[in-house]
Amino acid sequence: MRICVVGSGYVGLVTGSCLADFGMYVTGVDVDEAKIEALQGGEIPIYEPGLDELVRKNMDQGRLRFTTELGPAVEESQVIFIAVGTPPKRDGSADLKYIRQVAESIGHHLNAFKAIVTKSTVPIGTGQMIADIVREVSSSDDFAVVSNPEFLREGSAIEDFMNPDRVVIGSRDRRAIEMMLEIYSPLRVADVPFVVTDVESAELIKYASNGFLATKISFVNEVAHLCEKLGADIETVARGMGLDKRIGSKFLHPGPGYGGSCFPKDSRAVAQIARDHGLRFRIMEAVIEANDQTRDRMVDKITTAFGGVDGKTVAVLGLSFKPETDDIRESAALTIVDALRAGGATVRAFDPAAMDTCRELWDDVAFCDSPYQAAKGADGLVIVTEWNRFRLLDTERLKNLLKKPLIVDLRNIYEPAKMGAAGFRYVSLGRPEGHPTEPTA
Ligand SMILES: NC(=O)c1ccc[n+]([C@@H]2O[C@H](COP(=O)([O-])OP(=O)(O)OC[C@H]3O[C@@H](n4cnc5c(N)ncnc54)[C@H](O)[C@@H]3O)[C@@H](O)[C@H]2O)c1
Repeated sequence: MRICVVGSGYVGLVTGSCLADFGMYVTGVDVDEAKIEALQGGEIPIYEPGLDELVRKNMDQGRLRFTTELGPAVEESQVIFIAVGTPPKRDGSADLKYIRQVAESIGHHLNAFKAIVTKSTVPIGTGQMIADIVREVSSSDDFAVVSNPEFLREGSAIEDFMNPDRVVIGSRDRRAIEMMLEIYSPLRVADVPFVVTDVESAELIKYASNGFLATKISFVNEVAHLCEKLGADIETVARGMGLDKRIGSKFLHPGPGYGGSCFPKDSRAVAQIARDHGLRFRIMEAVIEANDQTRDRMVDKITTAFGGVDGKTVAVLGLSFKPETDDIRESAALTIVDALRAGGATVRAFDPAAMDTCRELWDDVAFCDSPYQAAKGADGLVIVTEWNRFRLLDTERLKNLLKKPLIVDLRNIYEPAKMGAAGFRYVSLGRPEGHPTEPTA
């Protein structure tokens, strides 16, 4: 089957290369000429583990190619996946301008029956909007709209696409559903659960899922804050909660507030969708507010730990919104670095993948080659993103490089007592502080 994937960002690129790996013939389309030129040359414009090998393998085997020419790609394809961005507007609702543009272009090139599939996260009713646009432009009904939301996580995107918890397919057209089931047949053989439903339910499954996950994160962050007031330990509390199978242990890790390109935008969008329909989604609104407060609390925590940041040098480890990605969209690190700079601090930063993007944001931040270079001469170190390579730092070396032995860990990747024993003042989330102690014999 010939497939066209419009939008070659995180989702489009992963979707296209995984579907090519399933044996489909895939054309990836994007308006970004530099991106397409790089891809045509076998260069992957984003950092995603395993993606470069997968793209190159499928290009070499002739099942994956890239172009900026949407028309021919649409004309020769039976299924068109739309994976363009749906960024938030000022009021929190999703901006559908890229979706509209693509729907119009598809309408101009409708030459036979096609399934038009939204992979992008779109508000309920977008499937209908796409159908209206395509019908108006093409004066034809020879197409079907499908919602096939994507649940992959950056950093483990290929694994998530190849082994999903479920595949959701929403359409009222039997032909389109059959085509989708054929495309995903390798997953059906592997017993992945499929939810086949109408377009609106499929669209809502995505928003409700992300809204719920954001709720879990904000919930545990609030519990961590409570632990700090009560002298309790969030790690034990979260473990005790998570062992209840109705709750589950995933997404119960405290942190600096959810970020990335999905949770902040999708939680705001779902609250706005409710308002548009005369409802208040009060839990979602509280989750959004709690997340904003968590961000502010992180800045306060750092400022207090450093005894004020004016004139201080702060080493920041981790800039991406999560490990194993170079994506900095809505990363907590951005809020934190901006607040540190505004407070008069000098920032020395290190991230394994995201520094190139950040260089464009700040010209007064020193981007370093390693955690140790960042720590050199700093008044303390702040861990913002839990990259694996930050979990086994040489603490003796760090202590010698830092002006003061202070670590603020916003991901709880170390044990307070051990860090105290290693000679640090160690401040983390929802746990008692670690203080320098004499090592016990
Ligand atoms: N990133 C994630 O982890 C993730 C996970 C699940 C769902 N989603 C959803 O998937 C969608 C895409 O997200 P993303 O992170 O891949 O975005 P992205 O910004 O990385 O990629 C979007 C791409 O679309 C291209 N584009 C825009 N207009 C176009 C047009 N008219 N024709 C062709 N290409 C066009 C852009 O140039 C860009 O390369 C969003 O709706 C997002 O909410 C994202």
